[in-house]
Amino acid sequence: MGVALTAIGTYLPERILTNDELAATVDTSDDWIRSRTGIEERRIAAPGETTSTLAVRAARSALQRRGLAPEQVELIVVATMLADHPFPSAACLVQHELGAVKAFAFDLSAACSGFVYGLEVAAQFVKSGTVRNALVIGSEVISRYLDWQDRSTCVLFGDGAGAALLEHADAELLLGGAFRSDGSGKELLYMPAGGTAQPATVQTVENRQHVLKMKGPELFQEVVPIVCDTILEACERTGISLDEIGLIVPHQANVHIVEEIADSLDIPFDRFYIHLQKVGNTSAASIPLALEEAVEEGRVAPGEYVLIVGFGAGLTCGASIIRW
Ligand code: ACO
Repeated sequence: MGVALTAIGTYLPERILTNDELAATVDTSDDWIRSRTGIEERRIAAPGETTSTLAVRAARSALQRRGLAPEQVELIVVATMLADHPFPSAACLVQHELGAVKAFAFDLSAACSGFVYGLEVAAQFVKSGTVRNALVIGSEVISRYLDWQDRSTCVLFGDGAGAALLEHADAELLLGGAFRSDGSGKELLYMPAGGTAQPATVQTVENRQHVLKMKGPELFQEVVPIVCDTILEACERTGISLDEIGLIVPHQANVHIVEEIADSLDIPFDRFYIHLQKVGNTSAASIPLALEEAVEEGRVAPGEYVLIVGFGAGLTCGASIIRW
């Protein structure tokens, strides 16, 4: 049995936070942010919006596009760095709110690679015949755990969600790929407290340990070769050459990372889709948000191969090839 990606849906919070607005609160500038990252603005969730509420909006949009009722959904995977609560999962809240009464649901933690990992995990459930369809949703409300006094991180991220519907199909359209993890890179990007290593105390709050900490330049150097190797391994495993890939949709962290990946692989930069200008780094949501935009712009032709590649905290990396 094969698997096809039959619909995408996305949701972005209404509130736009521009670089100029940030420059009024921390020591930065529109010019610095644009030139070092490519980001112009990002979206910020409203009070009351959470990982699961964003995910539900994206999921409803994907289901409406396909004309599928929530009761027909059989599996929900939510890829996220931080759910509404430590437990239960955001996916269970999404299942209830959607009215997906027949679906089983769980979260997947792989940071910015979460959507690519989630797609592969869900595809395996469909291929095995356990379910006939699955919703894979990347959803993040990163604005709630940024240090808004740390200019080196708060300018980079934004909130959003993107959902993909997978369904069984006669032909195999999700061709798989390659996946990597390296926990030795933990301290390059992490949140020190709030887990079992350092449960929340007055001290952890006072020491600002419930926010995202990142060693940006080190991470930049580290991820480029990993991403290149993972892309090449995905091509090798699927038997599809880099030249046959019509469009590469990378995780949208920084335009210069993508430029370096393009240089290292000797691929023209315009074969990568860049969407971070208006949304920043939305972690697990970034690939479905970019993919939907690419499809709407007509950048993906039917029958074409699209490679998606995520990378981020863990460190994690995943590349998958989809026949459109
Ligand atoms: N505005 C103005 N100046 C700034 C800002 C800012 N927002 N941030 C940092 N600076 C300053 C620094 O203090 C430093 O000043 P100094 O030279 O006086 O010390 C200078 O700018 C250069 O800082 P760098 O950190 O070296 O800047 P760099 O050009 O490396 O850009 C960045 C930083 C954008 C974070 C880049 O390193 C990057 O994108 N790294 C990778 C991020 C990434 O890949 N994340 C991956 C996944 S995300 C996920 O998994 C959730």
